Amino acid sequence: MKYLETLTSRDQQLAAAAVADFLPQEIYDIHTHPYHADHFAPNAWPFLSDKKVLGCVEHRAALQRYMPAKKIHGLYFGMPHKTADRGAMNTWVAGEVRAQGTPLSRALMVVSPSDNQSAVATALRSGQFCGIKVYHCYSQRPDTMNATVEEFAPEWMWELLHETRGVLLLHIVRDGAMEDTSNQASLRRLCRAYPQAKLILAHVARSFSYRNARKGLHAIADIDNAVIDTSAICESEAFRAALKILGPRRVLWGSDFAISELRGRCVTTGGLFFWLHPELIRADYKAPSSTDLTLVGIESLQSLREACEDTGLTQGDINDIFMGNALRTLAPHLPAEAVPAADTGLELWQRARTVISGGTGLLSKRAEMFDAKSWPAYFSRCSGSEVWDLQDRRYIDFAGGVGAILLGYADPDVTAAVRRRLTLGSYCTLVNPQEVELAETLVALHPWAGKVRYARGGGDAMTMSVRIARAATGRSGVAFCGYHGWHDWYLAANLGETDALNGHLLPGLEPKGVPRELKGTSVPFRYNDLASLEAAIAKLGDNLAAVVMEPMRSQLPKDDFLAKVAARCRAAGGIFVVDEVTSGLRYGFPGALSRLGIEPDLAVYAKAMSNGFPFGAVVGRDAIMQAADGSFISSSYWTDGVGPAAALAVLKKVKSLGVSELVWQRGGVLQTGLKTMAARHPACKLIVGGMPATPTMSFDLGADAPLAQTLYVRKMRERGFLVSSYYYVMLAHDEAKIQLLLTAADETMGEIAAIVLAGRLAEESGVARGLRGFTRLA
Ligand SMILES: Cc1ncc(COP(=O)(O)O)c(C=O)c1O
Repeated sequence: MKYLETLTSRDQQLAAAAVADFLPQEIYDIHTHPYHADHFAPNAWPFLSDKKVLGCVEHRAALQRYMPAKKIHGLYFGMPHKTADRGAMNTWVAGEVRAQGTPLSRALMVVSPSDNQSAVATALRSGQFCGIKVYHCYSQRPDTMNATVEEFAPEWMWELLHETRGVLLLHIVRDGAMEDTSNQASLRRLCRAYPQAKLILAHVARSFSYRNARKGLHAIADIDNAVIDTSAICESEAFRAALKILGPRRVLWGSDFAISELRGRCVTTGGLFFWLHPELIRADYKAPSSTDLTLVGIESLQSLREACEDTGLTQGDINDIFMGNALRTLAPHLPAEAVPAADTGLELWQRARTVISGGTGLLSKRAEMFDAKSWPAYFSRCSGSEVWDLQDRRYIDFAGGVGAILLGYADPDVTAAVRRRLTLGSYCTLVNPQEVELAETLVALHPWAGKVRYARGGGDAMTMSVRIARAATGRSGVAFCGYHGWHDWYLAANLGETDALNGHLLPGLEPKGVPRELKGTSVPFRYNDLASLEAAIAKLGDNLAAVVMEPMRSQLPKDDFLAKVAARCRAAGGIFVVDEVTSGLRYGFPGALSRLGIEPDLAVYAKAMSNGFPFGAVVGRDAIMQAADGSFISSSYWTDGVGPAAALAVLKKVKSLGVSELVWQRGGVLQTGLKTMAARHPACKLIVGGMPATPTMSFDLGADAPLAQTLYVRKMRERGFLVSSYYYVMLAHDEAKIQLLLTAADETMGEIAAIVLAGRLAEESGVARGLRGFTRLA
């Protein structure tokens, strides 16, 4: 193995293809070793035997042979070796970076656990170094490759890095790397105990076996102060795993210079890995033209590029990997103006307001619905019950995607099913066969039903159900209870001469644009109030096409309410439509109808049925569906493949894990916890209600309620939670997360109670009354 001075034309070609239209002009090498022969015993590094000094200048020149970036900054640290004179090496590296490094380049100090702690502290506090590089060879055991993290990165180093907001560059060892449970436990504990220390896990957390990355990186997904560097990893699988599990904001490019300049690559072999170098394969290896092995640095770059392409990263993501993430990681040690300005969601929200009507398509997602002053508004990624905002701050989210998500965000099984569909193509002239498989599944789940139709959203599917009912009966009147979407048939209720619906919808949700001719076609009734249903039906006379209702929302039916509604509807010649858009899969499997033991004529699903992908379905009795066949109900994207692929995966998972029951039980724990917490803070006058799977919590403070609610949202966000007055429990909310939420809510409520008692709600919340959500009929 030899440090390569000259690249072959083959190397140049490979490198040119790897960097073309990929590499940013300015890059930051987060993992690079300058070298000076004087600091080591003779022949400590055989591959550098004829080299005396490789400093910052040589580093940049070497990389620029195949990475034509205009500027290359570096985080430099000496090569850890048993024989290294660490003192001399560290002093030289710091001086070299000062003299020859770019202004943004920085140095790390190579430290052994046996080093003098106060000397290390002095060096770090002086600003000479922005952190520490540790290595297993300094651990006090013969088999250093089995060293635990603490054996070469002991607690005192973490304490010091926490104090100085320094970086720890750590190459973990032990077979299994991040899959090793001792490594996982150490890193989780230490990163949590010292949150201001910034951990860089070298070599994708030493995933020379990409399998370690796939399986092990999950252990640090919620460790906010840990990132990985790409150095010397030569397999795109490892990078793909890192991008998928950690996201592009936690992946930093590094070269591992001067290892990057060796010919070879590391490959996964079974559970471990093997370094291929030409000299290992053929002892008589000479001419580079006889091999296709190129430089480690070029291999790594090609693989990284492939992973970025496969993951569909944007140029912005790639710039982050090569530059922005390094600057953010080193921010405490760099001039403020060098660090990319953080995008605050609120600024983007203000821009959105100017170019998107309403800011975004769903009223309930508007920042003002939560807290106009602090709501992060936008996400960069989401996974399980967690959401990362534009600044990569992580939150545990109990608002459940405004009720659309039951399993968890980016559920792996649903994502895999959708990814398969996307990979194979999701839309073409022919029909997606999964439509049929899904229809048969849905019909089997609803023994009274014979046919289905698909839509791509809840309101969409509800409108379809009303059209079907109207087509099948030849009538137009609808008596309804609950919320059913934005369409004309529903908002027509507000066209009445009376104010029947005005009290139930948001102020400003006037039926503007809804034809006045629809007046009188939709009439609301109240849940558990048979007399109001009678009144609605009476109002519609002999024109009742359908009774449409949410089967349950905030209360359970009393006195066989649903059976009575169904009977009354059918007696009046109407079709009984149950809207399971929110209740479906959440309050029972396949819906609330199974919990309540009812058999409607049409059942409508969306939201949880596809767990975050656009979809909706109407499941209906055969005769009714056939009677509506003559009605033109047709749309291009109702045939897209993504929704059915997602729905099939969701149904399979929800059924096999018993998710509906699980969520009901876990939500029960949450609801009880909220009630106990409410009792501890009487000044807040909290009312906890809703179903166990969807507890609700509101402040009974009259005109002050919106102020208290805003403060609650804001203070919970500061504690790392996204909440609204509705808690949508997901499978991804395990008991530990529920307990975390309850603890945070209790602390928050203690603060709000004090503010209420001091009469300072208006002052503290800083807002007048915000927009309020729907007051629902059901
Ligand atoms: C019961 C019910 N029906 C219909 C809808 C409308 O669904 P979408 O927002 O997907 O159009 C909703 C949405 O909240 C709902 O809760």
